[in-house]
Amino acid sequence: MQKLKEKLNNSIRNGDFVKTVLSGAFDGDVKKTVYSVREKKNVPYVFEEKFTKDGKAFHAYIECENAADHILSSSFGFKQTDVNCSDFSAVVLRSKKGAVHIKYIEGNKEKDIKTEDKNYILSPAQKYDFLVYLQIQDKNGRIYDKRQSKFRQINRFLQIVSDVVPALPGDGISVWDLCCGKSYLSFAVYYYFRFILNKDVTVYCVDRKPDVISECSDIAKKLGFDKMIFICGDIFKSLPERSADLVLSLHACDIATDMVLAEAVKRGAKVILSSPCCQHELSTQIKNEELSFVLREPILKQKLSVVFTDALRCKLLHAGGYKVTTLEFVDPDDTPKNLMIRAEKTYIPKNIRENELKGYDEICRAFNLQPTMRKLLDGYFSDLL
Ligand SMILES: C[S@@+](CC[C@H](N)C(=O)[O-])C[C@H]1O[C@@H](n2cnc3c(N)ncnc32)[C@H](O)[C@@H]1O
Repeated sequence: MQKLKEKLNNSIRNGDFVKTVLSGAFDGDVKKTVYSVREKKNVPYVFEEKFTKDGKAFHAYIECENAADHILSSSFGFKQTDVNCSDFSAVVLRSKKGAVHIKYIEGNKEKDIKTEDKNYILSPAQKYDFLVYLQIQDKNGRIYDKRQSKFRQINRFLQIVSDVVPALPGDGISVWDLCCGKSYLSFAVYYYFRFILNKDVTVYCVDRKPDVISECSDIAKKLGFDKMIFICGDIFKSLPERSADLVLSLHACDIATDMVLAEAVKRGAKVILSSPCCQHELSTQIKNEELSFVLREPILKQKLSVVFTDALRCKLLHAGGYKVTTLEFVDPDDTPKNLMIRAEKTYIPKNIRENELKGYDEICRAFNLQPTMRKLLDGYFSDLL
């Protein structure tokens, strides 16, 4: 245990700590405890989230220098401790009588992803009715071979959602999934909030394909997921009338993502999780003499436009009062569309937002860009201009 403490201490000190999950509590009210890193007033802390069996969550910020000690002392009450750092991973298995087995995995990407499996919110060994209806598991709970990557995607997404739970209201959460398609993630999110966290949640799913909406509606009815509401319509015209705490959007094509982000900002969503795709709009606009050596190559022009599109979206979200992070959503081997924009509403002083917007507009002028998201938010930013 001393070796693990030293390794964990070093990882926390060097910024390599990712997450530690304590699960399988021997007794007491706590179901699992999760440790990650979070900043408070620009100082990094190890953030402790204790999830109790009756669905509550308790949080604490632990100073980094005391965190390894704190985590390993807490781990005594749990059957399994999964330590995940970018330089190493370890699994601690403990019996009720006190026997301890520690397995180390020195960090490389493949192994990290494997270890991450142990932190899955949905266990591959358990049957979930919604996954059966969505044809990801068979009726015995076995994940179909061809659906393994979808299962990983859903689990990875739930991990990202679990990280933003503290930024959402404690109960009565309103979620929008815009351009929901078959709504895999919405079913998982509903299940997570309603049945794992025991919170009251309503999930509004919007898509313009009537067959898909009707199929999803039927599945929700059969599952008794009575607060999943499916709306058939174009997101540019038919948005839910209710407010949104969490706005999700996965692979909403081209400017549909701009609409999603702009509406989320206007409605003051607390958290936005958006994985953009088919970013075509700016590739027909972008012009810049100094970048002509890139722009004359069509493939490179397309790739650069994708980067510009998403970077500008992040900048505009920041101007709109959001702390923004981009992350790799799934293993790039599963799909190249794996960028996730995570935005959390926070306090950003007006002068910083003004500078961000000014910088944004200057970039657009310099590169001849008129992004849809900017047009949709024109009125929203009138106080900054
Ligand atoms: C690539 S699919 C993604 C579906 C789902 N979010 C997922 O990740 O599995 C894109 C979906 O967006 C929907 N869509 C695109 N533009 C839309 C719009 N303006 N309004 C409503 N739905 C739209 C399409 O019908 C399609 O189901």
